[in-house]
Amino acid sequence: MTQALLGIDIGTSGCKALLIDVDGAPLASCTQTYGLSQPHPGWTEQDPQLWVNGARAAVAGVLARSPGVEIAAIGLSGQMHGLTPLDAAHQVLRPAILWNDQRNGQECIDITERAGGLDGLLRQTNNRMLVGYTGGKIVWMRNHEPELFGRLRHVLNPKDYLRLLLTGELATEVSDASGTGLFDTRNRSWATGLLEVIGIDPALMPPCHESHIVSGRVSRSGAELFGLPAGTPVVGGGGDSVIQTIGSGVIGPGELQTTIGTAGIVAAALDEPVANPDGRLQVFCNVAPEKWHCMGVSLNAGGAMEWFRTLLAGFSEGNALSAEQVCEIAAGAPAGSRGLFFLPYLNGERCPHPDPAARGGFVGLTARHGAADMARSVMEGVTHSLFDIYALMEKVDIGRKVIKASGGGARSALWRQMQADLFDCDVVTTEGAAEGGAFGAALVAGVGIDMWPNAVEAAKVCRPVTRETPDSAGAKVLRKAFDVYAGLYHALAPSFDEIDRARLDP
Ligand code: XUL
Repeated sequence: MTQALLGIDIGTSGCKALLIDVDGAPLASCTQTYGLSQPHPGWTEQDPQLWVNGARAAVAGVLARSPGVEIAAIGLSGQMHGLTPLDAAHQVLRPAILWNDQRNGQECIDITERAGGLDGLLRQTNNRMLVGYTGGKIVWMRNHEPELFGRLRHVLNPKDYLRLLLTGELATEVSDASGTGLFDTRNRSWATGLLEVIGIDPALMPPCHESHIVSGRVSRSGAELFGLPAGTPVVGGGGDSVIQTIGSGVIGPGELQTTIGTAGIVAAALDEPVANPDGRLQVFCNVAPEKWHCMGVSLNAGGAMEWFRTLLAGFSEGNALSAEQVCEIAAGAPAGSRGLFFLPYLNGERCPHPDPAARGGFVGLTARHGAADMARSVMEGVTHSLFDIYALMEKVDIGRKVIKASGGGARSALWRQMQADLFDCDVVTTEGAAEGGAFGAALVAGVGIDMWPNAVEAAKVCRPVTRETPDSAGAKVLRKAFDVYAGLYHALAPSFDEIDRARLDP
């Protein structure tokens, strides 16, 4: 029997199961998609049963594709910051509130005040309480759904709900715990002082382990539900945007990961929990013990491309172009999109501008601009927003020697070239990275059962596949354009607030 590691990723749009062999080579993967609901503007929710059904189908899919493998260990990854509220009998109380939900701005302000202001909060968690984070959602539930809150006994992240059904254990690990905003990331434990001042019972939060620790074994009911062998070890795993850095081999100094998925991410591993400048970055515990993780997440990257593509389909009677075709059209415009800029803040923004009222837009349109310029400016706007995040990371001395690109956007050579030009360093894609969090989770599972001594060694299986190098002509134009882009948010922010206050979109 071939020994294999199984990674399961509970994403926002679907669940992926991935089997890799002991050399880190992918054997089979299967994704089961699902939707999310938006019951009010700015709200995003998902019924956790979708994750369970998705995981069952995805696991069945990979097992069918790889007969004769023996699963040595399972690792879990998932969308971060989701509030999965459970009662004393572990029943789900309401649909999970997701990472991109924008409803709890006021609660985040209140938490920050009670924590002693931003400085007080940063002292305790080294992070802001961003609108997407779990902490503000718990308080929102207390304020708006007091009856349900009265029955709340356990708060789990999405992947940890899957763990509960797989193993019967209530547990999380340091990377996803960091994303609650209620975790002392410097000391890698719950921020009990903060929980106390905001009146959240620490017993609501699950026990927290390092990510490679075996948190439980597949139980008999878990085995029946998911078709997996009872007794298989399940390691902690990690929040998707943290664990996928390991899956791209990003663990050493100067290695950056960029992700163009629905969201855009720039991430790096750290040896110390550097002070988070004004709380604008996310400084979390890494899935490797004694390592931290620094990232900035823009809420709109591949999502902006998807919006643009859908918009075009609306003009062509549903005759939709693929994202690849939109990228081909974009290649017809010159670097800098002839002075056209796209602001990608289509769902508010998180980093570098923590502003739920931020809005997207094309700026600089003239009658000369055509479809190619618009398509290119969407891609450039997303690339600018990644560099805008990196500009903050540079302030805490995070250097750049190489970018390891991931997410759907990394499939576009044009998008990789834009990054090489603007960041002025090589951009590589690596084997396995396209599998996202599931790949990192499978690697961390291997660390948990001593297949690799640690995550640093495990990350070495991520060999480069493609490489783009900076092109001086394109780079010159893009850097000049970035200087303009960087000023646009600040110029327009007062108008965004005015639009928000005018309540034109009830
Ligand atoms: C990370 C974040 C997203 C979600 C969705 O902070 O909000 O990456 O984890 O995948």
